[in-house]
Amino acid sequence: MRHADGHAPPIDRTPRALKSTGSRARSGTALQRSAHGLPSHFRSVSLREPSQDAPPGDGEPASAIDPALRRARRATQLARAFGALVALTLGLITLGALVRAHGAGLACPDWPRCFGVWLPEMNLRVGFEWSHRLVAGGISLLFLALSALALRDAELRPAVRLPIAIAAVVLAVQIVLGGLTVLLGLAPWTVTAHLLTGTTFAASLLWIACSLRDRAAPRPRPTLPTGCRRAVWLASALVVLQLALGGLVSSHYAGLDCNEWPTCRDGVWFPTWQGGTGLHLLHRTNAYLVALAICGAWFWSRRHAGVARPLRWAVWLVLAQIGLGVANVELGLRVEITGLHTLVAAAIALAMAAALRETWLRPVGTDGPRRCVVIVGAGFGGVATAQALCDTAVDVLIVDRENYHAFLPLLYQVATSGLSAQDVTHPVRSILRRLPNAGFRMGEVVDVDLAERAIQLADGARVPYDFLVLAAGSDTEYYGNASVERLAFGLHHVDDALALRNHVLQCLERATQTDDANEREALLGFVLVGGGPTGVELAGMLAELRKHVVPRDFPGLEASMRVILVEARDRLLAAFPEKLTRRALEQVRELDIDVRFGAMVDEVDEGGVRLSSGERLRARTVVWAAGIRGAKLGERLGVALARGKRVPVEPTLALAERPEVFVIGDLASVREHELVPQVAQAAMQQGKRVAGNVQRALVGEPPLPFSYRDPGTMATIGRDRAVAHLFGVKLAGRIAWLLWLVAHIVFLAGFRNRAVVFVNWIYNYFTYDLGLRSIVGRTRPLAAEAHGENARRPADAA
Ligand SMILES: Cc1cc2nc3c(=O)[nH]c(=O)nc-3n(C[C@H](O)[C@H](O)[C@H](O)COP(=O)(O)OP(=O)(O)OC[C@H]3O[C@@H](n4cnc5c(N)ncnc54)[C@H](O)[C@@H]3O)c2cc1C
Ligand code: HEM
Repeated sequence: MRHADGHAPPIDRTPRALKSTGSRARSGTALQRSAHGLPSHFRSVSLREPSQDAPPGDGEPASAIDPALRRARRATQLARAFGALVALTLGLITLGALVRAHGAGLACPDWPRCFGVWLPEMNLRVGFEWSHRLVAGGISLLFLALSALALRDAELRPAVRLPIAIAAVVLAVQIVLGGLTVLLGLAPWTVTAHLLTGTTFAASLLWIACSLRDRAAPRPRPTLPTGCRRAVWLASALVVLQLALGGLVSSHYAGLDCNEWPTCRDGVWFPTWQGGTGLHLLHRTNAYLVALAICGAWFWSRRHAGVARPLRWAVWLVLAQIGLGVANVELGLRVEITGLHTLVAAAIALAMAAALRETWLRPVGTDGPRRCVVIVGAGFGGVATAQALCDTAVDVLIVDRENYHAFLPLLYQVATSGLSAQDVTHPVRSILRRLPNAGFRMGEVVDVDLAERAIQLADGARVPYDFLVLAAGSDTEYYGNASVERLAFGLHHVDDALALRNHVLQCLERATQTDDANEREALLGFVLVGGGPTGVELAGMLAELRKHVVPRDFPGLEASMRVILVEARDRLLAAFPEKLTRRALEQVRELDIDVRFGAMVDEVDEGGVRLSSGERLRARTVVWAAGIRGAKLGERLGVALARGKRVPVEPTLALAERPEVFVIGDLASVREHELVPQVAQAAMQQGKRVAGNVQRALVGEPPLPFSYRDPGTMATIGRDRAVAHLFGVKLAGRIAWLLWLVAHIVFLAGFRNRAVVFVNWIYNYFTYDLGLRSIVGRTRPLAAEAHGENARRPADAA
């Protein structure tokens, strides 16, 4: 959610600035673009497009936009409009139920006018019936207008012709049935048919919206087993029957013919199958069959995401619906419950319609030879790409040197004993369990053979690809300063965090043992270089450690422990609006953190840090949070790297002249979008765009350019303190801190991690404890003479 310091392009890379400690994050909102040297359809692309699926281009002159982009944009806008119409129609169906429940069905005895006029005298019942007709009229007109717009477009016409024709016929029948319902005095068959056609109309609108979305983001659909198809059809048929039975129950006023549950009445399960009671019993019994059938269809199709997704909705809805049905009976047909029962019934029908459409569009039988998409890196970008490709007829292979996905935004908590390494990592294989077309290979990629379309692994294996997605992330940049690289701690990998945690704890232990005042001062000096989020967050946690943990575990040391934050510029968190950076500084100072502005690090040695001003800070712990560079793998592509050693890519995220090779996330520098920050959100959004472009390539459509949607930034400063700039709203203090907690829990991978981190935070909050203080694993030796190397990867240090 926020920019880690160093997770945006550096502002200045002159040799002088290389000493600097400047924060590198920048907001992605005020971006500028240039358009030279690009295919015409990538010019004039707005950066403020709100959605990934929605292709960019709002507000641009139509003539400058490539036809594919324009078509996709138009399809997306129309899909949204039809989606809104579906929601309106659901509202209308519910209103219809309320009309009936209020006994207002004949409040207007004539049709189409009411008491012979268009605007009758109002009372509650007339108002209900009249507003039902008014909304129905509005929806009909909107449908006609939107359909005309869609059909006028020659590109979209083939996709929407059939569902629009069906919807138009259903609408005509629905209008006639509405009239008949009134004219025939609410005859049960007209009421029931009116409910069914209303729902069918909503389903046809959904079909149109889905077809338009498919037009905007086309993809080859994988095959579906026949059994799965049959299960969905059977469940759908039972749902239609259930709707009809429901309509018959209500129109025969048989809602309370069975007035208890689970038995019908007087403790008897099935008193009779005749009349209203029979209808009611049929409705109940079929409801259980519907629930079983939907659960079965979902289970059968759970490995086919496009079909399983709407079915998952249907499962939840049908369970809720049974609860509402029972409430209907037990509470004596309360109006609001009846209205909700009808709304959920229509929603179940829509979910089934979406699943049916998917089964209808998928080929039967077995897949032919499938293209292989190789993704290097199981970080935010790589995983998002694989997830977005999960329902496409391709094979996906993720390659990573670790067997886990790491949630880097919480590394600083691992480094300060707040969380364990297991809490912020999640095995890649466990993520892939939900992605039936994806596999994993653990290994370090050392080279890319662009000509032969293969990657080379450190163990000698070569893996061929049809499409390659490089999502290898970034690393700490030391700007060639050997002393910093050798002696300062970076914070970019899980091992970095573990090494730092052990080192901090070791310093505290040693400080209790030494009588040498200088040594003690160095052991209790903690210098954080870089006033971006990582530096600020680390400083905040160390200050909390000093305040709450050190007095209990190392009594007496807290007074001598110094936390110093060194920043080259004159403000912290430079990516945030000025008001928030001021609030952040106040909060940092409340924690008694020593902030040095305008200070640059010249050298780090065993005893501490020498600043360019000549001042020396005695500290055994120096953390370098002031530099970031693209992962080393980028150097193997044979292209001139952009700022921050990132790989320059086209706005489509593909390498120039290599449309089958994409680079995303921290490693990529997107032409025309160079200021997209190096944050998790950008990596995930790029992953989705790449998946979309692979899918487009497979169906012969040109790729679309990426545009970044900036959700905002956050940084926390110890407990109860944070700043957040979200959707233009500036927040500081406890509210920002709570938002930060929620956002990080939501984005963590894996239920176990979410649960453990949540419990950990609650525990830490109430006990003022940071519980993970055992020194386990290898640590960097503390003796001054042993400071020979940066122990960033302790496991390798043997
Ligand atoms: C300390 C820290 C705090 C951060 N805080 C935030 C924050 O609060 N909010 C936010 O939005 N962003 C934050 N970020 C930035 C964010 O984590 C990155 O922008 C994001 O992880 C980039 O995603 P990615 O997919 O490009 O790379 P990563 O998520 O870094 O994943 C790269 C993957 O590639 C693998 N890999 C690399 N090279 C190879 C190779 N040669 N062979 C095989 N595998 C390889 C790595 O093992 C890794 O799994 C933070 C970053 C750090 C370091
Ligand atoms: C799959 C689950 C179900 C679906 C899809 C469903 C659907 C419907 C529909 C469409 C109606 C007509 C609403 C209207 O005319 O406005 C209805 C009415 C009704 N349903 Fe259900 N239903 C389900 C389960 C149940 C269950 C389990 C019960 C009872 C235990 C129940 C009890 C009723 C009653 C009492 C009515 C009549 C309401 C009235 O007269 O106002 N339903 N149902």
